[in-house]
Amino acid sequence: INNKRDRQIQLHRDAAIFYYRTLLKNDHAKEYLQMRSIEKSTIKKFGIGYAPNSGKSLLNYLLQKKYSVSEILDSGLVLRNKNNSQNDMYDRFRDRIMFPIQTITDKVIAFGGRVLENSKSPKYLNSPETSIYSKGKHLYGLNYAKKEIENDQIIVVEGYMDVIGLYEKGIRNVVASLGTAFTLDQGNLLKRYTKEAVVIYDGDQAGQEAASKAVEILEKCEVNAKVTILPEELDPDEYINKYGKQAFFDRKVESLAVIEYKITRLKQKYNTNSIDGRINFAKDMAMYLSELNSSIEVEAYLNKISMDIGISKESIIQEIKKNKLKEH
Ligand code: CTP
Ligand code: MN
Ligand code: MN
Ligand code: MN
Ligand code: MN
Repeated sequence: INNKRDRQIQLHRDAAIFYYRTLLKNDHAKEYLQMRSIEKSTIKKFGIGYAPNSGKSLLNYLLQKKYSVSEILDSGLVLRNKNNSQNDMYDRFRDRIMFPIQTITDKVIAFGGRVLENSKSPKYLNSPETSIYSKGKHLYGLNYAKKEIENDQIIVVEGYMDVIGLYEKGIRNVVASLGTAFTLDQGNLLKRYTKEAVVIYDGDQAGQEAASKAVEILEKCEVNAKVTILPEELDPDEYINKYGKQAFFDRKVESLAVIEYKITRLKQKYNTNSIDGRINFAKDMAMYLSELNSSIEVEAYLNKISMDIGISKESIIQEIKKNKLKEH
């Protein structure tokens, strides 16, 4: 009756319980989460755990639960050195805060583990690809967010702690793409649950770069996409802890449509106070507008851009025509 997949899911569930119980006994780990303003009820909700520092605790727990060595190795939670003996197996995750990654039906299929000291690296370690987990096909938190969708809108953030930090403050329609590259699979998955996605990535350069790419993918998936840019290079969880829920909502209300976001980013790239900067900005913008199909949209943005930088609509249109000729 127990097929391979069910066994792996059972194993991951047992591992999550093990990590969770270990957390409850470990002051160091509990203090870390306290420091990040995460309450006990949220720890429980997300099944946050702690992987102990000793090298074989999970291994021994799973053996005692009667999982075979090959099942344990297949899970990716335990590794083996070259010489293939059981003595040479050790836990992948040691001394890390553990975040179970769940499917939309609440099944644990992988983990992410965070160091407690920022000086250690890598900051996050994740489960490898396994028979039950492929990267980029899941959205962290979707199993919770799908029950909390507001105004047909889901917020997309980068990381575990952003989902959890916002949840803690009562914002619960949030999922994380986990890492920087939002995928087509994730876009299509999201589309099953919502019409609109508000991308709120980290305010730093890397986050904004990733947000640009994410909205392009979302548009391909026909999800209506918007972007909120956070100030001071803050992450969503840092922002809400510093400024509160209302300020977060105020920012979200002012989120930008995709093209407005592109204009904003291009303006940052070129110094539009200089003539050279304005020329290059207009050329880049023309390139972008020549890819749009709706002439209404083009007209609207032309008006805005030409006002912003003092280059006539006609010149920009000439540039767009030049680009279109090149394309054909
Ligand atoms: N990530 C990862 N591996 C890394 C770094 C990041 O898998 N070495 C993923 C994690 O899912 C992480 C997300 O990318 O949550 C965003 O990364 P980052 O912004 O660096 O981390 P935060 O989520 O902000 O983590 P924290 O707030 O705990 O520092
Ligand atoms: Mn320490
Ligand atoms: Mn970041
Ligand atoms: Mn963060
Ligand atoms: Mn971050």
